[in-house]
Amino acid sequence: MDQGAMKELVGKKAVETMVKSGMKLGLGTGSTAMPAVRQVGLLLQQGILKDIRAVPTSFQTSIECEKWGIPLFSLNSAEIRGELDLTIDGADEVDPRGCCIKGGGGALLVEKVIAYASKAYAIVVDETKTVDHLGLKFPLPIEVIPEARVSVSRALESFGGELVLREAVRKAGPVITEHGNLLLDLRFKEPVDPAVLETELNRIPGIVENGFFTRLSPRVFVGRADGTVEIRG
Ligand code: 5RP
Repeated sequence: MDQGAMKELVGKKAVETMVKSGMKLGLGTGSTAMPAVRQVGLLLQQGILKDIRAVPTSFQTSIECEKWGIPLFSLNSAEIRGELDLTIDGADEVDPRGCCIKGGGGALLVEKVIAYASKAYAIVVDETKTVDHLGLKFPLPIEVIPEARVSVSRALESFGGELVLREAVRKAGPVITEHGNLLLDLRFKEPVDPAVLETELNRIPGIVENGFFTRLSPRVFVGRADGTVEIRG
């Protein structure tokens, strides 16, 4: 099974296992979260799921939900009141404790707000995303306000990694997030403590959010090339 097929498999499995009618549902961003979104849409169209109120994490998710007729709400709306039953999202890396790096798709800010507002959290990944230590292979995305690009870069020098301003594709210059910010990608050279850094990085003025997600106990669905899905947590 190739990586695309693993993503399809795991997205569907997470929805079938965890989504129930009547849920307030956070929906993630990326190529592994999209099959989960489509599965929610399909089950709604078939009448198997009913009364789903979804909160999207990005434009990508909103557009996919619109295509499938999935009812969309803001986290602030009276129907949601800032709390979700479940969020399903992808990740760039997952460690054995269920801590993640997210933000490869640039949507980490709302992804984190929604994840931390959810009573239950499910991560969907293919087996290439599981690692022993976060941030050595996939760099940690850090969202910064444009005015703080250089000052934050200087402050991050003491963390000893390799720092890159994320460049856009098919647009000249850097990626601009959906909230008007820039992304710095920090690859560590040595293992770090993600739980400590998640808090510490956000103390640097100008950092809006970072892509370590460590304060959740997700159920992690890992799609494998042999066609099976391992469920952790
Ligand atoms: C977007 C994310 C994605 O969930 C993460 O990048 C994984 O994406 P994909 O499933 O396409 O590999 O955090 O900000």
